[in-house]
Amino acid sequence: MWPGEMKPLVVGIGGTGRPGSTTDKALALALRGAREAGARTRLFDAGTLGVLPLFQPQRKERGETTIALLDALARADGVLLASPSYHGGVSGLVKNALDYLEDLRDDPRPYLDGRAVGCVVTAAGWQSAGTTLCALRSIVHALRGWPTPLGVALNTTEHPLAPTGMETGDRFETQLLTVGRQVTEFAMAFGGSSEAMAGVTG
Ligand SMILES: Cc1cc2nc3c(=O)[nH]c(=O)nc-3n(C[C@H](O)[C@H](O)[C@H](O)COP(=O)(O)O)c2cc1C
Repeated sequence: MWPGEMKPLVVGIGGTGRPGSTTDKALALALRGAREAGARTRLFDAGTLGVLPLFQPQRKERGETTIALLDALARADGVLLASPSYHGGVSGLVKNALDYLEDLRDDPRPYLDGRAVGCVVTAAGWQSAGTTLCALRSIVHALRGWPTPLGVALNTTEHPLAPTGMETGDRFETQLLTVGRQVTEFAMAFGGSSEAMAGVTG
């Protein structure tokens, strides 16, 4: 399914963009796990997601960033999502990006069909971390994706991750690397994207 130098594409979506953001660091670690397992990755961070207009079904025009996001998701062999818990749920920034997947409903692989999706959530408490992780995984189910066995919840009040570039090998870093690896392994086991079949390398 993955001949020669072909590598699955794993697309990361999320973060908050706040300086020192735990969600941003978590997503970066998960994407690193995906790369270490043999994927190539593409990140749509909070700054990029913030450019997307609010999704409205009657508005059909799509800007450059929206098109880039949808193109990447259509080609993706796996996805990593990272959202903060805002008021007990997924942030509007992340949910808005996911709502644009409606444009892919008639694709050969509709929505996130056939793709593994790793979910990462940050919150200032375990209760909201749990409910938001469940919500994010339910969204993935609705989009026909396959949530990975491991979902990662981080409680920011416990300062779970070291500053970027100072990985310490703690259990949260291990979990984040693992969720990225699971997405890649699923793609390699069940994948074979149209891109790989067309002979595109990266
Ligand atoms: C608007 C807003 C709403 C929030 N609501 C909750 C909440 O309901 N429960 C909770 O545990 N934390 C809540 N938080 C805390 C965030 O989940 C926490 O600050 C976030 O995970 C930190 O992410 P970051 O470091 O990537 O910016 C909220 C934060 C903001 C800004």
